[in-house]
Amino acid sequence: MAEQSIKICILGESGVGKSSLALRFVSDEFKAYTESTIGASFMSKQVTLPSTENDERERLVSLKLWDTAGQEKYRSLAPMYYRGSDAAVLVYDITKTFEELRGWVYELKNNGPPGLALVVCGNKSDLKEDRLVGPLKGEDYARTIGALYIECSAKTAHNVDKMFSEIASRVPPK
Ligand code: GTP
Ligand code: MG
Repeated sequence: MAEQSIKICILGESGVGKSSLALRFVSDEFKAYTESTIGASFMSKQVTLPSTENDERERLVSLKLWDTAGQEKYRSLAPMYYRGSDAAVLVYDITKTFEELRGWVYELKNNGPPGLALVVCGNKSDLKEDRLVGPLKGEDYARTIGALYIECSAKTAHNVDKMFSEIASRVPPK
């Protein structure tokens, strides 16, 4: 059987750590100073998804990541990336707010592909002292929009692999 490609777009405000999450996942690296993404950037990685209740076989899949640009001036490009996606990672920074994700969720529900799997990702979990959004608040919000919820850190790598693997597991085999 041909290996399945799973397309994932990463959305969220500029500076929340979208590119850092992609870099950590694909190359296991972290940079304290990054350049703000221009347009979008593409990366891919093969992963083996664990067996599930419905399917006891492991699945080898290729994750195709579209790391979008969070700056407002690129916002109109986003549909090019989310339209063909199987899943969307909605990233916020736990030291700020997830309010801006509401706009993305509204847009995805109206213009996004049907059945798009969603994960709300609270990034920068290493910055414990500066936390403004509690985990229960994030989780509550994710539940209201039918999304998976996970906190992670691109800096320490906490939960990054888990986040991509869990959202990919929510995409049905083709
Ligand atoms: P745009 O490309 O402008 O949309 O931003 P982005 O969401 O891709 O953010 P980026 O990954 O460039 O990260 C912005 C800044 O946050 C950089 O200085 C990163 O080093 C930092 N950063 C990203 N993830 C983490 C994290 O988990 N913990 C900490 N402490 N800093 C992080
Ligand atoms: Mg970026």
